[in-house]
Amino acid sequence: AAVKRYQFDIQVKNVSRLCHAKPIVTVNGMFPGPTIYAREGDRVLINVTNHAQYNMSIHWHGLKQFRNGWADGLAYITQCPIQSGHTYTYDFNVTGQRGTLWWHAHIFWLRATVYGAIVLMPKQGTPFPFPQPYRENNIILGEWWNNDVEEIVKQGNKLGLPPNTSDAHTINGKPGPLFPCSEKRRTRKDLSLLRIINAALNDELFFAVAGHNMTVVEIDAVYTKPFTTQAILIAPGQTTNVLIQANQAPGRYFMAARPFMDAPLTVDNKTVTAILQYKGIPNTVLPVLPQLPLPNDTAFALSYNAKLRSLNSPLYPTNVPLKVDRHLFYTIGLGINQCATCLNGTQLTASLNNITFVMPRTGLLQAHYFNIKGVFTTDFPDRPPKPFNYTGAPLTANLGTTLGTRLSKISFNSTVELVLQDTNLLTVESHPFHLHGYNFFIVGTGIGNYDPAKDPAKYNLVDPPERNTVGVPTGGWTAIRFRADNPGVWFMHCHLELHTGWGLKTAFVVENGKGPNLSILPPPKDLSPC
Ligand code: C2O
Repeated sequence: AAVKRYQFDIQVKNVSRLCHAKPIVTVNGMFPGPTIYAREGDRVLINVTNHAQYNMSIHWHGLKQFRNGWADGLAYITQCPIQSGHTYTYDFNVTGQRGTLWWHAHIFWLRATVYGAIVLMPKQGTPFPFPQPYRENNIILGEWWNNDVEEIVKQGNKLGLPPNTSDAHTINGKPGPLFPCSEKRRTRKDLSLLRIINAALNDELFFAVAGHNMTVVEIDAVYTKPFTTQAILIAPGQTTNVLIQANQAPGRYFMAARPFMDAPLTVDNKTVTAILQYKGIPNTVLPVLPQLPLPNDTAFALSYNAKLRSLNSPLYPTNVPLKVDRHLFYTIGLGINQCATCLNGTQLTASLNNITFVMPRTGLLQAHYFNIKGVFTTDFPDRPPKPFNYTGAPLTANLGTTLGTRLSKISFNSTVELVLQDTNLLTVESHPFHLHGYNFFIVGTGIGNYDPAKDPAKYNLVDPPERNTVGVPTGGWTAIRFRADNPGVWFMHCHLELHTGWGLKTAFVVENGKGPNLSILPPPKDLSPC
C-alpha cells in the first residue's frame, strides 16, 4: 500500500461555455477538477486550501470512510466548512473498494463546478474480472448554467418556484458540437473502459454511443455480472463502468446523453455530445447520433435497472443481510410550506416521513462525538405518522410538513432494511437516494405502494446490486438493506440538488461497537470549529 498526496487549491477562474464567460469556483483552475488515482489499500491525503471567498467542503462520494466521518467532507454534517484562507487535510484509507467514484463540493450548489473523478485500481496483481482494456477514459456528465447558479437558486426560492434548469448538459465540462462555441472532443479507438460519472445536479441521464454496444461491468465501485446494452441510465451520484469495443466501420460517432425526463416541474431535453473518433479519420466526416431512449421511457429504465446484478463471485461475494433487525419505512414527499420572506408567502419544500430537514449550524458529527446538546434529536420516526394511499391519494393530502434536525439512531452492526416510498403529495418524481458511509443492497423495487405482506417474497437476496445511490422510481418504492458496521453520523439525501436544498435529507447516528477498533476515530487536529 502506498500513500497518495494531492494538493487542491480552491480558486475562482473565468471559464467560457456557450459563448458566455463567467467566474466559477474550481480546484487548481480545472473544470472538471483533477482525477484522484489510488489503489485498494492505499492511504490518501488531500490537502484542500481555500483561496476563494466561498466556504468550501469536499466529499469523496462513495468512499466508505470506515470510522472516519471526519473525512466525509459534508459542511455542517461531518465538519464545519473550510473558510476562505484556511486549509483542511482529508486523510483516509481505501479499504475493500475498487472502481470508479467521484468527488464534489458538498456545500450549497457549489458542486455545479467543483467535481472530479476518483479512480481506484484493484490491489497490485489482482486483475479486473473482465478483459483488460487497452485504454480508459473518464466520461463525467454535468450541467452548465450561463448565469451565476447561486443567484438563480436564490431567485427561485424568493418566488417559491424551482430555479431555471441548466443551459446545457456537459461531458467532461463541455456541451459538445451541437451547441455554439463548443469545442469538439475526441476519444481514440481500441477496447476501452469508459468510467461514466453522473455529476449533474438535477438530471437522471441516458447515455449511449452511436453504433456501439456497451458492456456494463461495474456500478458505484462494485463489479457487476456483465451485460450488453445500447444505452445506460445513470442518476446523479452514480457511476457506471462500461467496456466498449471499437469494432465498427472506422468513422466518427457521437456519444450522447440526455435526461430521463420524469420531472414534470423541470422540462429539459437538451442533448450533450462528444465524439468517438477512429484513428486516421478526418475531422470533416459527419458524426452519427446514437438512438437514446425517449425522455419518458420508463419501461427502458425499469428493464435496465433489473439487469444490474452483483458479480457475487468467490473473490467478490455479495454479503446481503438475510435477516433484518430494524425495519424502516420512509415516505418521500414534495410539498408547500408557509414562508414569511417569500414573495407569495409560500415555498416549495421536501420531506421524509413529512419531516423537512433543517441544516444545523454545528457539524452533527462533532455534536455527537463531543456530546454537544441541542444540535439534533434522535427521534426520527421509523415510519410515517399515519399510513395513507401513498401513490393514490389526492395531491392536496398531507401538504404541510414539520421542520427539524431529527436523526435516527442505529445500533452497531444491526441489519437495517429501509423502504423508500415515493408519494404524489405534490408531483410524482424519481429520486436518487444516496447514503454516506455505506454501500447498500437494492433487494426490491416496484411501482405503486409497497406491500409488506407480498413484496418481500419477491426480493433478490442472491445477487442484488450493491450501490451507494439508488433511483427510487416515480410513483414507486425501493427496498435497501445494509449492515450498520460503520460508526458515525451518516447523511442520507436525494442527490437532486434541488430536493436536497428543499430538505429531502436526514442522517443516521450509528453507535460505536464494543471492542477495539469499533468506535469513531478521534478527530484530526486541523478540524475547524463552526
Ligand atoms: Cu454525492 Cu451527500 O453526496
